[in-house]
Amino acid sequence: MIYPSMLELVGNTPVIEISKFFGVPGIRVYMKMETFNPGGSHKIRPGTNMILAAEREGILKRNTEQTILEPTGGNTGLGIAMTAAILGYRVVLVIPDNYSPDKQKKLKLFGVEIILSDSSRGGNSHGELAMEIQLENPDYVMLNQGQNPANPEIHRQTTAPEILRDFRDLSIDYFVGGIGTGGHITGIGEVLKQEYPQVQIVGVQPYGCDLLDNKFVLHQIQGLAVGVIPKVLNLEIIDRMIDVTYEESLAMMVAATRQEALLVGLSSGANLAAVSKIFEELRGKQLDKPIHILTMAYDSVFDYLDLLK
Ligand SMILES: Cc1ncc(COP(=O)(O)O)c(C=O)c1O
Repeated sequence: MIYPSMLELVGNTPVIEISKFFGVPGIRVYMKMETFNPGGSHKIRPGTNMILAAEREGILKRNTEQTILEPTGGNTGLGIAMTAAILGYRVVLVIPDNYSPDKQKKLKLFGVEIILSDSSRGGNSHGELAMEIQLENPDYVMLNQGQNPANPEIHRQTTAPEILRDFRDLSIDYFVGGIGTGGHITGIGEVLKQEYPQVQIVGVQPYGCDLLDNKFVLHQIQGLAVGVIPKVLNLEIIDRMIDVTYEESLAMMVAATRQEALLVGLSSGANLAAVSKIFEELRGKQLDKPIHILTMAYDSVFDYLDLLK
């Protein structure tokens, strides 16, 4: 097939059934492989959509080399860098200094300027530094994914309808998703709640954080619990949170590669660890019908090779 640009390839990601990975009869597990997006993560969806929304509002003008500024763990940054390369913008990204060096190398390919924030200052060190840079450079346009409605909106408009299309007459009993900006759990969760009233929307957070109580600790699961409750997160659709450790997430990341060749990253491993905790709760319970659990793969194991010994 012939497409006019890489941006036309965003979305329509496949879903893989991974029930065998857990091997518990009566419970079926599925993973939506956002790794198949251009740039390899779900964050190109909001990355592109925030730019298009800013263009519609007249804040950004194509092919002007206007500067886009964004705090990011790397994935939104990559989405923005790809879209900006195609549409003619300059990009400055603020990234915590303990985040994936491989992602930073990829970003440098696009010629974007990377400024590292001091991660020891807290989970939102990049957000705070980006604010300072914005004040010094008022002409920069900060898309601000944690506050930008175009972030959850693209998941309402694309990711969620893709799920409804692929599941057709299958029910979804649990949707398990990590929370960074809350963009995808909000957009997907709102739509699933309308379609499947029984669905439980389960947020995943690093052990020690209590997002619903605005409590955060420093942690190593990149992309999750960024130290503030993001404005775009719709807390009302979250039924419960499951806590996972870095070690559990890493072990699941490795197991997912060795057993199923899923090649997914650390926060996707966190999702799998959370799913296995749901299994523990369901163990021994009489199930009158099959349970369907859907979770997400966000990015690739190849971005986390530095974590493997
Ligand atoms: C690797 C990774 N996992 C999970 C998330 C969480 O996604 P969301 O921002 O939609 O909450 C992010 C967000 O940047 C991410 O980069």
